[in-house]
Amino acid sequence: MKTATLANIHWFDERFEYDSKARNQKVEQACFHHFYGKKSMTIVDLGSGTGSNCLYFFEKFPAEQKWIFIETEENISEYALKRLSREGEKKGYQTKYSGDALILTKEERKIEITYRTASFLDLVDVVNLDEVDLVMASATFDLISFPQFCVFGSVLLEKKLPLLTTLNYAEINFVPEEPSDIFFIEKYESYMNRSQHFGKAMGKKCPRILVDFFQKQNAKVEFGSSIWKLEGTPAKTMNHHLVKFIEIASTMMINEDDEKNLFDTWMKEKKIKIDNGAMNTYVQYYDLFVTNE
Ligand SMILES: C[S@@+](CC[C@H](N)C(=O)[O-])C[C@H]1O[C@@H](n2cnc3c(N)ncnc32)[C@H](O)[C@@H]1O
Repeated sequence: MKTATLANIHWFDERFEYDSKARNQKVEQACFHHFYGKKSMTIVDLGSGTGSNCLYFFEKFPAEQKWIFIETEENISEYALKRLSREGEKKGYQTKYSGDALILTKEERKIEITYRTASFLDLVDVVNLDEVDLVMASATFDLISFPQFCVFGSVLLEKKLPLLTTLNYAEINFVPEEPSDIFFIEKYESYMNRSQHFGKAMGKKCPRILVDFFQKQNAKVEFGSSIWKLEGTPAKTMNHHLVKFIEIASTMMINEDDEKNLFDTWMKEKKIKIDNGAMNTYVQYYDLFVTNE
């Protein structure tokens, strides 16, 4: 089962507020500094989902931008363009929307967004990388295997393409803590690491692998933590989305009846705590900005 079908579009949108607050400012500033003075940029967003990277950055990057979304799920990309059109209008942009392309304009600003329904693992066949200034990926690389990443990372290094990758999963904690948390969090993480047709995804090892991979190739790596803070009553909806996601994933990794009973009790208690606004969840991610010049 793919992540995109496990999650849902509403969750991607719900995440936006928490993703935005989590983003590591030092890493982001390193990226802005790198492109300082540029008038136009072409950005490829890998596993672009509902377009949150673009929504977060399009007012922070230069006046002329071309975004190319690479996403395997076409319905998600279609939704992304509609979402960006809606959000652009709210920010006073004129919008021109046709099929797989959206143009947002306001005064001298022009943001063009298109999507390709493809795997970013085939990036070289899908996009002319010589015309790209920045590759971006958010909450994506933990889904692929180390050998897949090696191939992909080597292409970026060879092409000397900067990479901004954010929200790479490392760990999750609940407060208050329960004795069973570690056991069931491990079940969830084992879902991320399960055997798939391409091998095992990097899962929680992703940030460490990425930093190590690029540093050993002498690339310049700015990295730092980014944390989702889902606290109390205001985060109820997001906490419910998250534990639902964990429930579906972990259930697939539990075969024994006694483990299943314990898991059901654990889950039920978490949901009660969320309803009472009495649960905080902290998801630890890492952001990286990589250049190789
Ligand atoms: C966890 S979501 C993150 C979405 C978005 N980057 C964000 O931050 O909201 C991961 C996305 O990557 C897409 N995806 C997974 N593997 C992919 C691949 N090999 N090529 C392109 N998209 C992929 C999924 O369909 C999903 O939309």
